[in-house]
Amino acid sequence: MRGVFITLEGADGCGKSTQAARLAERVAATGREVVRLREPGGTSVSEKIRALVLDPANDRIAPECELLLFEASRAQLVREVVEPALGRGAVVVCDRYYDSTYAYQAAGRALPEDVIRRANALGSCGVDPDRTLVLDMPAADALARATRGGADRMEAEGLGFQRRVSEGYLRLAAEEPERVRVVDAAGTVDEVEARLAAELADLLPGLLAQNAGGE
Ligand code: TYD
Repeated sequence: MRGVFITLEGADGCGKSTQAARLAERVAATGREVVRLREPGGTSVSEKIRALVLDPANDRIAPECELLLFEASRAQLVREVVEPALGRGAVVVCDRYYDSTYAYQAAGRALPEDVIRRANALGSCGVDPDRTLVLDMPAADALARATRGGADRMEAEGLGFQRRVSEGYLRLAAEEPERVRVVDAAGTVDEVEARLAAELADLLPGLLAQNAGGE
């Protein structure tokens, strides 16, 4: 049995990390093995790349270099962790994956889309998510939340950049409606969690049984 590969996406500050944790718990409660990951990161090599690519001191990183660093981090994560996990039937919940590269490096940085798609094919080693959940909220609200404790190198790009990122995600969802689902990130953590679970019900039987109030 191949596992299930789920990715969570959205602009900085949309509440993804909280929801990734909730979702992982919910899946684990159905009795399946869950592997929770975040990008960039998840292996010792990928965590080193993460530190490099997000460090505000590295303000001269060229867009092409940035792209290749994200892809390098991803390829290592896929080969070392994602493929083996899917191979043994686990559910992989990954906070960001190649759609982030589309949203940030193509829509945000304006690198050519065909280049990004080919880079993503390489960096993902051909491993595609079964479902991608995009948490959507107004860019200004998300950025304010993300930068409360200080901004990393991407967050420091400002509101116009985050708006392009959000629009990039909406374009992806329009292109691939079966895989990519947009979920309204407004409301309580419980409400958003229930919306996300509903978008996974066909892939993960038992997930909705846990909704408070028996939705
Ligand atoms: P992180 O602190 O993990 O942000 P978040 O909690 O919002 O996920 O930082 C990851 C940053 O890297 C985030 O700003 C998005 C950016 N990023 C890209 O630009 N391209 C990519 O391919 C990936 C995976 C992330």
